[in-house]
Amino acid sequence: MSVFQLEDIKKEFKHGNTSEQILKDIDLKLNKGQLTALVGASGSGKSTLLTIAAGLQKLTDGTISFGGQNLSSMNDEQVREVRAKHFGFVFQHAHLVPFLTVQEQLELMIDTAELKWSKKDKQSRIEDVLKTVDMWNHKDSFPENLSGGEKQRVAIARAIIHEPEILFADEPTASLDSKRSVEVMELIERLASELNITVLMVTHDNDMLKYAERIVEMKDGKII
Ligand SMILES: Nc1ncnc2c1ncn2[C@@H]1O[C@H](COP(=O)(O)OP(=O)(O)OP(=O)(O)O)[C@@H](O)[C@H]1O
Ligand SMILES: [Mg+2]
Repeated sequence: MSVFQLEDIKKEFKHGNTSEQILKDIDLKLNKGQLTALVGASGSGKSTLLTIAAGLQKLTDGTISFGGQNLSSMNDEQVREVRAKHFGFVFQHAHLVPFLTVQEQLELMIDTAELKWSKKDKQSRIEDVLKTVDMWNHKDSFPENLSGGEKQRVAIARAIIHEPEILFADEPTASLDSKRSVEVMELIERLASELNITVLMVTHDNDMLKYAERIVEMKDGKII
């Protein structure tokens, strides 16, 4: 079942008097609980497509449908609300706050997303999610004492703490060695297969493609 649809997506960047078409008539459907990998040469438009799909950047033309709503016709505040409630994000670097413990990173996320959970619910959700990413025993650690893979697992915990339906990941393993990449990919694969989270992931790493249920390739702003 498709939960998210991109139709006829176009993106233009203006440089002075000229403009460049970066995305050309993109159609893409994401199925519930499926891990889709987005691949293609550098500059083909993968990150642009991912950030547009995730509502982090505006499109020039086209339709983004999610849960019976059309994101492309919403105002900024409405998009922000959908994003905060239903989407999670993971990037190449974990971007953790250096002076907060693992537990506190997640508390901050819960407060920022205005989830309004009771103290007890907050704590039990944090415990749950840290166990899911196998970082519960590190809950009092600071980022500087974690490996790259562990930091990325905390970033994933932070991205799924509010139980999003869709996880957008842009090269989540690009800063990791192969052993840590495998750990992070196995985790992301498990989020899709066990928690039924729909994942759209950009990757450059061919070794990671075996974790994807579907591979979509981009070339020059088009899906091929
Ligand atoms: N804000 C912007 N303004 C102008 N051009 C942009 C902007 N963002 C991206 N581009 C251009 O759009 C094209 C696609 O960029 P994008 O970052 O989506 O590629 P990518 O496939 O993610 O590449 P990589 O694999 O290197 O991350 C590039 O030519 C880039 O220079
Ligand atoms: Mg990119």
